Amino acid sequence: VLDEFIKTGEYSDSDCRLPEQYILPEQLCPQVAYNSYTEGTPVIDLKSFTMSDDQSTLQNSIEEVAKALKEWRIFHVINHGVRKEVIQALRAQTARLFKLPLAQKMLGHVTGSMLGYSANEATVTDCQKLPWSEAFTVMGSPELHVREYASKIWPHDHDTFSCACEEYGSCFRQLAEQIMNILINVLEVDPGHFEELRKRPLVALHPNHYPICPEPDKTLGLGPHTDPGFFTLLLLDENVGGLQIEKDGKWIAIRPLKDAITYITGDCIEVTSQGRYKAVRHRAVTNSKQPRSSISFMYAPTPTATISCPPELITEEQPQIYRPFTWDDILAIRKSRATEIHQGKLRII
Ligand code: SIN
Ligand code: FE2
Repeated sequence: VLDEFIKTGEYSDSDCRLPEQYILPEQLCPQVAYNSYTEGTPVIDLKSFTMSDDQSTLQNSIEEVAKALKEWRIFHVINHGVRKEVIQALRAQTARLFKLPLAQKMLGHVTGSMLGYSANEATVTDCQKLPWSEAFTVMGSPELHVREYASKIWPHDHDTFSCACEEYGSCFRQLAEQIMNILINVLEVDPGHFEELRKRPLVALHPNHYPICPEPDKTLGLGPHTDPGFFTLLLLDENVGGLQIEKDGKWIAIRPLKDAITYITGDCIEVTSQGRYKAVRHRAVTNSKQPRSSISFMYAPTPTATISCPPELITEEQPQIYRPFTWDDILAIRKSRATEIHQGKLRII
């Protein structure tokens, strides 16, 4: 029955129950439905940075981002400059991928790795249950190495898919660089501090697919987590909600915004900003009406570089909170299931 969901995104039997391995303990079950939106997600117009040579307008825009980061840790970016065709092409290609028979998708699966195609692999945070989703993940510094995995799924016909991923990856990397420049302005630190960290950034492309779920209030599409990089740029499903964030101790549903790209703060911004700007815990919920797709793009530091806080941010009032660390430290901590930096492993006080 489960393969049937993943294969087709549909279930024919209306009495169908959620298989046991997806049923979460009560405290992890979502209380907020996919479409019970809390309004007010900040919207940042990237044009106000690129088109403005007036210093005070620029300063206002920077303050707007600082406020969004503090209050929401997430914002929609409009006028982001990524061409529609590039986005449409990857949406179409990921739809093509997830529609394939499970056996064909599994050709791109690597046992024990999160790279390539995966379904029923990772468990939901802190319990042995499975998330109601499938995904395709490619990663690299700075190339994505998509062909390695795509060619296993489509030995003769992966080029359109691979090209769509590569083009999207390169546009999103450019956008990420631009947003990183803005964040450095928000932090008011020497950009030189981030030079090594940005030389060969680690990027990851991660299309997700959430099939229709028979009992969406008993499971999650993706368990609560923070993203490990500097930040993630999410392409949400424009028609179907599902992203939820923890804000002021409560889970809230984010309404997708047409033609926008959604920014979410990751662990590395939290650490390099000395906790001034915190990573946002988020999760994906499912629904029983429509399948949902999202594509996440992670922008993270050069994996070999030492990640530390700029000296300007360490003051008498705000002494150093986090020790310098490497990407390997982050991965080790996440592996040990203490999934969040702010659970304290990198803290020195
Ligand atoms: C993610 O956290 O990678 C995806 C969230 C979503 O599907 O909205
Ligand atoms: Fe995420």
